[in-house]
Amino acid sequence: MGSVPTTPPRVSLHSLARMAAAGTPFACLTCYDATTARWLARGGVHVLLVGDTAAEMVLGLPRTIDMPLDVLLALTAGVKRGAPDVVVMGDMPFMSYHAGEAEAIRNAGRFLTEGLADIVKIEADASFAPLVEKLTRAGIPICGHVGSKPQHVALTGGYSSAGRTAAEARRIVDDAVALERAGAKMLLVEAVPPEVTRAILDATTVPLIGIGAGTDCHGQVLVLQDLVGMTDRPPRFAEPVANLGRSFESASRDWVERVAARRIGGQAYSMKQGEVQKLAAEGFPGVARPQKPEEPPQGADLSPSAPAAASRQAG
Ligand code: KIV
Repeated sequence: MGSVPTTPPRVSLHSLARMAAAGTPFACLTCYDATTARWLARGGVHVLLVGDTAAEMVLGLPRTIDMPLDVLLALTAGVKRGAPDVVVMGDMPFMSYHAGEAEAIRNAGRFLTEGLADIVKIEADASFAPLVEKLTRAGIPICGHVGSKPQHVALTGGYSSAGRTAAEARRIVDDAVALERAGAKMLLVEAVPPEVTRAILDATTVPLIGIGAGTDCHGQVLVLQDLVGMTDRPPRFAEPVANLGRSFESASRDWVERVAARRIGGQAYSMKQGEVQKLAAEGFPGVARPQKPEEPPQGADLSPSAPAAASRQAG
């Protein structure tokens, strides 16, 4: 095993804004559990997004709109506990902020209190500006997700790019501007041509995270499983840098073989000196009674093969 890795400096919304202003790109990945969060933070990732992609990546559901709010809240808290020093972004799932402002504010607040999130993302256009204003007034930092909006899959008929006509491009920039004016502390733009990204950057001042939106954004995000080679069909903009899917497959195949061969590795628990003989003397099932009581006591193994080993020692 290698040495315990060092932890990079603490990241906050303020330090991200400073990085953006200084032109220093920051890295964001999706994450859905504490253990993975710990390793991603050690790798220096600045923002962990607990996205509604958990519907697909964690729960095996077909669409992100199927993500249950309570589950996402629990996952978000786990990620923050695993990586307390990075910015954790909770993702408001479909229908958790559409039915009414009061419900939206309460649900967003739950991401801060129960989910331990630092910022909350909503897929939004300019019509959500009044809600963003109220969420901000309530003290909830908001990231406005513009461009392609996967929660609109039923309307659009599938996950697709956005902003590829002049009118649509202009509308996306207007959405970004309206959300920042309403108080959004961050913006995320998905699957748009780089020209649209540049126009957003020219028209806004808050940090802009991109996914499939060119290289100019202040921050870049990918779904972790796409990056590390665990999805069968990653999107065209996600270039895998590892092959963890194959690594899991090969580790599991190796385990299957070792279990079959009773070669499980590691160390078994053992009993204190004399305990096996005591068990044997008490007639413990599977432990043979000592034939020569005067023999010195010896330790024994409690692994699945322990009864056989103990009887060999006692015999
Ligand atoms: O839910 C998610 O993971 C996202 C990213 C794809 C940006 O919103």
